[in-house]
Amino acid sequence: MNATELKNSFASIGQQSVFRFWDHLNDTSKHKLAAQLEAIDTSLIAQLAEEYVRTKPKFPHPGDIQPVKAYPRTAGPGQESLYRQAAERGQQLLKDGKVAAFLVAGGQGTRLGYEGPKGEYPVTPIKHKPLFLVFAEQLLAHSRDCGRAIPWYIMTSDVNDAPTRAFFAKHNHFGYDPKLIRFFQQGMMPAFSTDGHLLLAHKDSLALSPDGHGGSLRALLKSGALADMKSRGIEHLSYFQVDNPLVQCIDPLFLGLHDTTGSEMSSKTIPKAHAKERVGNFCVGDGVLQVIEYSDLPDALAVQKNPDGSLRFDAGSIAIHALRVSFIERLTAGGKLQLPWHRAEKKVNFVDASGHVVKPDKPNAVKLEQFVFDAIPLAHNAIVYTTDRGEEFSPVKNAEGHDSPETSRRDQTIRAAKWLAAAGVAVPKQGEEIDAVIEISPLFAVSAEQLKTRKLPKAVAKGEQLYLG
Ligand code: UD1
Repeated sequence: MNATELKNSFASIGQQSVFRFWDHLNDTSKHKLAAQLEAIDTSLIAQLAEEYVRTKPKFPHPGDIQPVKAYPRTAGPGQESLYRQAAERGQQLLKDGKVAAFLVAGGQGTRLGYEGPKGEYPVTPIKHKPLFLVFAEQLLAHSRDCGRAIPWYIMTSDVNDAPTRAFFAKHNHFGYDPKLIRFFQQGMMPAFSTDGHLLLAHKDSLALSPDGHGGSLRALLKSGALADMKSRGIEHLSYFQVDNPLVQCIDPLFLGLHDTTGSEMSSKTIPKAHAKERVGNFCVGDGVLQVIEYSDLPDALAVQKNPDGSLRFDAGSIAIHALRVSFIERLTAGGKLQLPWHRAEKKVNFVDASGHVVKPDKPNAVKLEQFVFDAIPLAHNAIVYTTDRGEEFSPVKNAEGHDSPETSRRDQTIRAAKWLAAAGVAVPKQGEEIDAVIEISPLFAVSAEQLKTRKLPKAVAKGEQLYLG
């Protein structure tokens, strides 16, 4: 498209103000802005400005919201053979090379206050390993155990792609074969002023931000990663977020249950810590399994109790999924991804009409994102499987307080202590607290069961810093 066509196309949707400074830009800047604008689907932008920005869309509440029936962590009565088969199936899928790991790491980590890619953040209690290394060691351990290397797809975004790749290169890809790691970038979405105009961050560039982890599905297609998976014979993705060092990046039982039940998208849940915990809620809305964000679940439902005192809606989402590659192909067929958009009002720096950069002190803009869990209602036979918080969830989200580096380090020690105790090792306690700091490298053991097969000390000393690697 030449400059006139581009201008006409933006003028036709009432967004001509993005060309406000065009005549004063040098060729490099014109090229930069034109490239950003060409990447934009103008008809989508026009629709989003109308439906999500100028008007606030109402969360379409299902009329009938019921709790979900999740698969328990271990087989309940009558489920023993299903779970046995599922565990075997999961192992077989790994041996046959049908599973890839999929890490979404395109977000900005604003709450943590860390400037670089979040995966660089040092999280473990003794060796201070970065999140990326924790995941790499787990995947290497599973590759070793199943006798087949596990391909690893990592989604970045324009804000952190180059530093993420550089970090991996600097650390020799953490021992991973670089040919097995594929980085790809998610899409970017422009920020709107509250009256629906696209904001410029600079005279020659839009204010762009990542389009949400739901955008990962579109990005898998666009980047060629989906085609790459197909050519490698990969059938399932084990999806996880960058912020949780306790995540089991690969869980054979979960993957096996997902496959044997014919589920297209499966999810892990944990019982919520309290009614208002800021996690998504798995619910059945009008008969369809879905996630309702904490902000959208009506209070009256959030606080409802079962006769035994437990929360009626206690299925919290920890953003761990298994996805069938064929499902992603189906969802993205024709290049369109039919997921809803979520609206958030944020502070976004912008260039005003006179060319000055404005740093607002209150929300001035609307950002739109798609969420991967909105694909669940579109999946056939979607299932939810229960896991244990202490075993699998202690994210690093905030600089301080809950879900912070400190709470996560503590929880890593607690899990390690639990695994050691189960293997017969005496662990010192002071009251309820573990009186030691313990770190177990995933290369040493990826599970409590595996730890039992390793050579272990008889006891951990009081106050000891014990690293098992
Ligand atoms: C998310 C979930 C919430 C769940 C919780 C569990 C949403 C809206 N909510 O909350 O239901 O209970 O995790 O920890 O997701 N990311 C991208 N690209 C983006 C945006 C995010 O790759 O455009 C990645 C981030 O790098 C991160 C993950 O997605 O790995 C989560 O993003 P974040 O925005 O931090 O989600 P939460 O609000 O913590």
